[in-house]
Amino acid sequence: MRKWFLLAAAAAMVASLPGAASAQQPIVIKFSHVVANDTPKGKGALKFKELAEKYTNGKVKIEVYPNSQLFKDKEEIEALQLGSVQMLAPSTAKFAPLGAKEFEALDLPWLFKDEDTYSKAMKGPVGKWLFKKLESKGISGLAYWDNGFHMVSANRPLLMPADFQGLKVRISGSKVADQYFRNVGAIPQIMAFSEVYQALQTGVVDSCENTPSNYLTQKFYEVQKHITVSSHAHLQYAVIVNSKFWNGLPADIRKQLDKAMDEATDYTNSIAVKENEDALADIKKSGKTTLHYLTDDQRKAWQVAMRPTYKWAKGRVGGEVLDLLAKELKIQMN
Ligand code: LMR
Repeated sequence: MRKWFLLAAAAAMVASLPGAASAQQPIVIKFSHVVANDTPKGKGALKFKELAEKYTNGKVKIEVYPNSQLFKDKEEIEALQLGSVQMLAPSTAKFAPLGAKEFEALDLPWLFKDEDTYSKAMKGPVGKWLFKKLESKGISGLAYWDNGFHMVSANRPLLMPADFQGLKVRISGSKVADQYFRNVGAIPQIMAFSEVYQALQTGVVDSCENTPSNYLTQKFYEVQKHITVSSHAHLQYAVIVNSKFWNGLPADIRKQLDKAMDEATDYTNSIAVKENEDALADIKKSGKTTLHYLTDDQRKAWQVAMRPTYKWAKGRVGGEVLDLLAKELKIQMN
């Protein structure tokens, strides 16, 4: 049924291929994503729409579909490959189904010491190298969008590694995240983002990790009694397009869209930290959950417990991306 829908949508899309666009008919770019409008990614997508439509004088129409309205995580990647949507910004933790497991290196625990280190690294060789991995899949990477560091939650306080024992944790897709949760005795489970609230509410899973803006807008904090502001891993997105579609656009239009994307990227990356700080303040104010901050000793205990992920990761993501990261960040990878 879903396949049929995708095929029908793909067929409908052929009619609006860039080459077929008449003077009156705008080129339509469907931009699908899974989070709320009121998040860094949601705002970034709307900013891109505003700028792209302005710079192309309405020759391009950007239709933004937030909150998994059109497709859930896995489906949206298939839809991009089939051409029934043209633009996505999935978390880089979700790139294995595209055949680009190397992106999961970015999920290593405590890889980036702070936001500046993250943003500098992604602008460097590793960001470009990762985008190159997508080319053979017919996908082009346009930009990296930031969404800050993960927190982790449950209905009990998570302060020491032992607190994770037997906890069913929802993860978004990365086997590296699967591994660091296994390192502390949890039982990770991949689940679509749109299903997490209900899964937490009904006890299908006990726990999840995410950024404050996602906890707030998806109301995860209402169904988790304790949140640890651990910053144990980083959440970033890659804005991606179907290469055939993108390269088939008239050159002048693509240039205007590139400009719109560059500016939307600067905007998104400039608001991400503040958006998450504000979201965390709102969660605190709600009084519906207790926030915990790790002491230095507790953080150290998590780092030691999760460290084996680094060695393990080599077999999953390969040595090349780890070497690039090690060089860029001046860190050891074992
Ligand atoms: C998740 O699935 O937890 C996140 O990747 C959602 C998102 O896009 O921020």
